[in-house]
Amino acid sequence: MKNTTHEIRQSFLNFFKTKGHIIIPSSSLIPKDDTTLLFTNAGMNQFKDFFLGQKNSTYSKIATVQRCLRTGGKHNDLDNVGYTEKHHTFFEMLGNFSFNDYFKLEAIQYAWELLTSQKWFNIPKNKLWISVYKDDNETYEIWKNIIKVPIEHIIKIGDKNNCQYNSENFWQMSDNGPCGPCTEIFYDYGNGSIDNITDFIENKTQRFLEIWNIVFIEFNRISKTNIIPLPNKSIDTGMGLERISSVLQNVRSNYNIDIFDTLIKKISKFSNLTNSNHISLKIIADHIRSSTYIIADGIKPSNEHRGYVLRRIIRRALRHGRKIGIKKIFFYKLAQDVAQVMGTSANFFKDKIYEIEKILKIEEIQFSKTLDVGLKILNKKLKHINNNILSGKIAFYLYDTFGFPVDLTEDICREKKIQIDYVNYKLFQQQQRSKSKSNTFYKNYNDDIIVNDICIFQGYKKNKITAKVKHIFVNKKPVLEICKNEHGIIFLDRTTFYSESGGQIGDTGQLYYKTAYFEVENTKKYGNTIGHIGKMNSGIIKLHDCVYSEINQERRTSIQNNHSATHLLHATLRKTLGNVVEQKGSLVTDTHLRFDFSFSGSITLPQIHEIEKIINNKIFNNIAIKTKEINLEDAKQQNAIALFHNQYRSVVRTVFIEDFSIELCKGTHATRTGNIGIFKIVSHRSVASGIKRIEAITGKMAIKHWHKQENQIQNISSILHTHPVDITEKIQKLIVQQKHLTCKLDKLKNKDNINQINKIIRCSYEIKGVKILIHKFYNHNYKELKEIVQQLQKKIEYAVIILINIVNNHFTMISGITKNLVNSITAKSIIDIVIQETHGNGGGKNDLAAVGTTDIKKLDIILKKITLWINRKLKNN
Ligand code: SER
Repeated sequence: MKNTTHEIRQSFLNFFKTKGHIIIPSSSLIPKDDTTLLFTNAGMNQFKDFFLGQKNSTYSKIATVQRCLRTGGKHNDLDNVGYTEKHHTFFEMLGNFSFNDYFKLEAIQYAWELLTSQKWFNIPKNKLWISVYKDDNETYEIWKNIIKVPIEHIIKIGDKNNCQYNSENFWQMSDNGPCGPCTEIFYDYGNGSIDNITDFIENKTQRFLEIWNIVFIEFNRISKTNIIPLPNKSIDTGMGLERISSVLQNVRSNYNIDIFDTLIKKISKFSNLTNSNHISLKIIADHIRSSTYIIADGIKPSNEHRGYVLRRIIRRALRHGRKIGIKKIFFYKLAQDVAQVMGTSANFFKDKIYEIEKILKIEEIQFSKTLDVGLKILNKKLKHINNNILSGKIAFYLYDTFGFPVDLTEDICREKKIQIDYVNYKLFQQQQRSKSKSNTFYKNYNDDIIVNDICIFQGYKKNKITAKVKHIFVNKKPVLEICKNEHGIIFLDRTTFYSESGGQIGDTGQLYYKTAYFEVENTKKYGNTIGHIGKMNSGIIKLHDCVYSEINQERRTSIQNNHSATHLLHATLRKTLGNVVEQKGSLVTDTHLRFDFSFSGSITLPQIHEIEKIINNKIFNNIAIKTKEINLEDAKQQNAIALFHNQYRSVVRTVFIEDFSIELCKGTHATRTGNIGIFKIVSHRSVASGIKRIEAITGKMAIKHWHKQENQIQNISSILHTHPVDITEKIQKLIVQQKHLTCKLDKLKNKDNINQINKIIRCSYEIKGVKILIHKFYNHNYKELKEIVQQLQKKIEYAVIILINIVNNHFTMISGITKNLVNSITAKSIIDIVIQETHGNGGGKNDLAAVGTTDIKKLDIILKKITLWINRKLKNN
C-alpha cells in the first residue's frame, strides 16, 4: 500500500505510543527563551533544558512531529533548496526522545522495528545502511551483534580535519548546547556492495538517503573548545517526514511526494509550465510552506532578524515565479493550499489563514515592482559580463536605487555561474553610508517607493473624473486600505491631478467616495505613475475602490495662468534681450512664477518695463492658447522653444500663443491670455555668473502687490506729514537737512575733543621727558576715545596714553604710545598686564592696543601696577 504523508506521520506517533511514549505537540518555529537559535531547527530544541539536566521532564519517553526551519546558523539548507531532492527550508521532523530512560540499545531497536517490521514501514532490511561514530564501539556492536546488520552495511565515520567530534556522526544543536555521537540510518537506492568507503561518505551519485538520525546526547558544548559530560544520558532521534515519505511512496525526490505533488501542480497552473520537475516549482513549493508556517508562528516580513529571513524566502520565491513566467500576484494564494496539504500539522493556523494571506499579499505587491525593475536591469547587465564576475557597483546600484536585494542578485548569478565582486560592493556600501550620514536631505518622499504601473493624466480638460485605486502606501509600505487620520499615497489608474514636473507644482484637491475623503496635499510622479500624497480625513479607501478625483480648480487656474505667463515671459526675453536667453530653471506656482535664464549683461529698469509692456499687451489682446501634438521635426522648424538637449519623443505636445510663443510643454495652461489678467515683475537679479532670475506675479496677486505698495506709501507719507505725491521731494529735503546736522555735530564733537585733550594733558605727569597721560571716562563712546588717543599721539612727541572708559561694571582700556617711544615701551605690553590680571579680551599693536573686561574691582590695582611698570621701564632706559 502506498502511504500518504499524513498516514506516515500518524504511524510514527502510533508506533511510539505502543512503546510507552507520550505524544507532545510541536513547539513553535520561534524558540522560547533561547537566544542561541533564530528558528527551531530540530525536534529536540523544545527539550533542551531536559537534556542539560536544568529541568526535569514530566515524561521520560516522548515522541513528537516538530516543525523545523533550517535557514541559518549551524543548520542552513536555504541554498540547497531546489538543487537537491532532499533539502527544505521548512520540514517536519519525526522524533522520539528518552530522558534518563532507555539509551542506545532500545533507541536502535525501536528505529529498526519501525522501519523494517511488516506491521509498520516494511522496508527491506538489505536496503538499509548504518553509519556510526568511529569511537562508538558500543553502537557498532549493537548493530552488528543484536540487530544483525551485515558489517558491510555498517560504516564508521571519523572526524574531519583531525578535530575531535567534528564529524557527521557527532550531532550538535548549535555552537553551544547538548550534543553527542550519533548513528544514522540510510536508505539505499542502489544495489550490492560499494567499492570504497568514500562512495558512501561522498555519496556523489545520491545512492544513499539519510533517513533517521539517532543521537546519544551525553555532552554539553560550552564553548568552541570545551565539551563537558552531562549528568544524564538521553536519546534524541530525528527522521525527516518528507524523506521517509519519499522512500515509502517509492519516489526518488521529496518533491514528488503527495504534499509537494499537489502544491507543484497548483503552482504550475499559474505558470503554463509543462515540466513539473522545474527547479523553480520546487523552490516556490518549499518557500510557500516555510513562509506560511513562519507567519503562522507570528513573524512578519521585515528588514531584520527573523522577519528578514522570512522576507528573503518570500522574495526568492517571487523571483522564481517571474522566472517561470508568472506575471501576476500568485504567491499568497498558495497559503490556503499549504494549510490543506499539511493536514493535522496545519491545524494550529487554519483559522489564521486570512491574516497570513494578507501579510504575504502586501509583501508580494510591494516587492513585485522592485523585482520587475531589478530583474530587467540585472538581466541586461548579465548579457555583457566579463570573466563571470558581476561588478560590485552594479549589484550595489540595484540594491541602492531599486531596493533589489543583493542575495537575490547572488541567487540569479549563481544559476549562471557568475560571482559578485563583493569587495567593491562593500566599498560602495560604505561610501553610501557616509554620504547619507552627511546628507540628511538625501531621502525624500519618493524614496523607497517603486510603483511599476501607469496612470493616465486626464487633467488637461477635466477637473473631476472617477478612477480606480490601484495602490495605496502608508509609511512607505503598500497596504490594502487607508483609514481616517492616516497619511499616505494613493495611486489611481487615471487622474485629473497634475504631478509636479517641468517647474509646475503638483495639484491639490480631494479623492472621495461616499463618506471616504482623502485630502490631496501634493501630487508627484513615481516612475510612470502619479502619487496623490495626503491625508485621509474621513472613512476608508480600499484597493480597487472607485473614487472621484477632483482637483482644487481655483488653485489650478492660478497655476495655469502663471504657466502661460512664463511662456510669454520666455518669448519676450528672447525678443528683447536676444536669443542668448535660454531657460535654466523655472518654477510655476499658484502665487508666483520664477524664471532663471542665461544672460550676462545687466537688465535696466526701462528694459523690465518694456518686457512687462509687451507681455501685458499680449494679455490685453486675449489671444487663444492652443496645444497640439506635432512632429518633433515640425516643432523644430517652427522654432519652438525647447530644451533640445532633452530627449523628446517623435510627437511632442506644443503650446502655441499665436506665433509669438511656441514652446514644447506638458504643463497645463490658460485657454486665453486674457485669463492671466495682468503681469508684473517683482524682482530681477543675478543668481550665478551669467544667470539671471526674474520673479513675477499675475492677476489677483499683482493687484494684492499693488495694494500692499499703496499702503506702504500711505504709511510713509503719513509719517512724513505729506501728500503721497510729495514724498520724493520731502525725503530729498530731509536728506539735505540730515547732512547739514551731521556736519554741525562733527564740529561740536571736535570742539569737545579739544577740551578733553587739554584736560588730559593738564592732568598728566612726566618721567624722564615722557608724558604719562592716564584718564578715566564714564559712559563714553569707544570710537571717540580712540580718536582722542590718536590726536594725543599726534600732538605730543613722547607720551604714554592710557584712557579708560567705564560703563557700569565693565571697563575698556585703550593705550597709545607715540612713535618715538615704541622701541622702549609698547601699548600691547600695557594691555597684556590687564589681560593677565583680569582674563579680559583684547590685543592690538605696539602703538595702539585695547582691552575690555568686567573686572572693574581690579581697575585701581591694575592702574597702580601699570604706572609702576611704566616708571621702571622709563627709568631703566
Ligand atoms: N537532533 C538530531 C537532528 O536534528 C536528531 O533529531 O538530526
